[in-house]
Amino acid sequence: MNSKMHIEGFSANTLARRRFLARSAIVAAGTSILGGLVVPGTRAAGVGANDKIRIGLIGAGFKGQQNLGNFLLNPEVDFPVICDVDDAHLAKGIELVGKHRSKKPDTVKDFRRVLDRADVDAVLVGTPDHWHALPTVLACQAGKDVYVEKPLATSIAEGRAMLTAAQKHQRVVQMGTQWRSGKHWADAVEFVKSGQLGTVGLVRGWAYHDWLGNVGNPPDGNPPPGVDYDMWLGPAPKRPFNPNRFHFNFRWFWDYAGGAMTDWGVHLINIMLWAMGSEPPKTISSKGGKFVFKDNSETPDTQVTVYEFPTYTMIWEHKLGGSVGPNGRSWGVSFSGNHATLNLNDKGWEILAERKHETLESKIFPAGTDDPRRTHIRNFLDCLKSRQAPVENLEVGHFVSSVALLGNIALRCGHDITWDAKAEKIVGNPDANRLLGVEYRQPWKLPYYKV
Ligand SMILES: NC(=O)c1ccc[n+]([C@@H]2O[C@H](COP(=O)([O-])OP(=O)(O)OC[C@H]3O[C@@H](n4cnc5c(N)ncnc54)[C@H](O)[C@@H]3O)[C@@H](O)[C@H]2O)c1
Repeated sequence: MNSKMHIEGFSANTLARRRFLARSAIVAAGTSILGGLVVPGTRAAGVGANDKIRIGLIGAGFKGQQNLGNFLLNPEVDFPVICDVDDAHLAKGIELVGKHRSKKPDTVKDFRRVLDRADVDAVLVGTPDHWHALPTVLACQAGKDVYVEKPLATSIAEGRAMLTAAQKHQRVVQMGTQWRSGKHWADAVEFVKSGQLGTVGLVRGWAYHDWLGNVGNPPDGNPPPGVDYDMWLGPAPKRPFNPNRFHFNFRWFWDYAGGAMTDWGVHLINIMLWAMGSEPPKTISSKGGKFVFKDNSETPDTQVTVYEFPTYTMIWEHKLGGSVGPNGRSWGVSFSGNHATLNLNDKGWEILAERKHETLESKIFPAGTDDPRRTHIRNFLDCLKSRQAPVENLEVGHFVSSVALLGNIALRCGHDITWDAKAEKIVGNPDANRLLGVEYRQPWKLPYYKV
């Protein structure tokens, strides 16, 4: 141990926390180490143990509403304001808060009006992927903590900007990949880490979904009444309104998201990397296409991505329009060692011992009844008070999102890519490097963005 720290009687953590609190106290007093963007009165130093936690919801669609309901199960949480660009979703948010609290939240359509408020300690970002980076970065600058949905962003460079903002402004930021907070997921990951599977050389994650289907080919038209469509597009290119390029189905268009590779891939890649460690992949190869659906969506319904890590190979595969995946399971992850294989999904996990390693019993471990979504949110709320890093902090979130995004870069540039993780660049490939970032439509600009 460092003797100076020892003599002073503080651990490195305690010292770091003291320095942080000292700096945060300055922030709370209104000086400008955070860039002068903190609204006076904002509790940028964190909330007290017995304080109410006041959260602004940005994006009240499917996931925003689900998260809102789960946040409201915690008695110390209030939502003074809800933001969405669609009146219909604002109304749903108000209705949901009304079921849990007596005070009706304010509503706004411009998320910057959420960040302006001194009575907002944190924001919950449930917008489509192309709208994750800006609200997160601006919230960090404004001294707010952030719970942001997965994947972190549509590009690796935006993810880096988000991580930089979280670090620079000392914010608690959690990405919404809730399975890291699930007990049976953690138990299975511990088992992999214990070495009892032997040497794990092959790891595989898959999602075969028949419920994500053909979205058809509707004509362009007018946005529904009560929708600020220009604000929905935000930094994405200006295009005529099409019902598929909107709520939920935005997932299947490159301007707003990355298809199943990043929608489901990021969840399961997250679990695989949790067990296998933080070593980055060296090369990535990805093949696929739109083979099943004849509709106006863009991202592949079928895709296989192979990652070469220094000590193992990782495969991601998805197929939409069918649900019979590897092992007859619709989705899951599998760790193959030379002593045994471990299969894992939301139902639980199983160990299948190799013939030559029968001393290791083949066994099934059913999942418990805990809801990882609620535990993940609880972890975030606790960290707002303790100022500790949450389980899916942005170092983790940026790493796993980047690995998923690299799959799409390899697919879209049409050949294998070699990843220089330190420089966050693809080696010797200007075409692929262009896909590391995304051009923002004027006047939107992302602070800390570099390509
Ligand atoms: N963690 C999970 O298991 C999980 C599950 C589903 C979705 N998600 C993620 O949640 C995000 C949203 O997905 P969804 O299915 O809820 O989509 P959705 O289309 O149902 O909801 C998105 C909402 O954001 C609103 N919005 C768009 N631009 C906005 C802006 N500038 N300001 C405020 N609101 C804006 C939309 O009007 C809509 O109400 C995605 O990133 C998705 O990957 C995560």
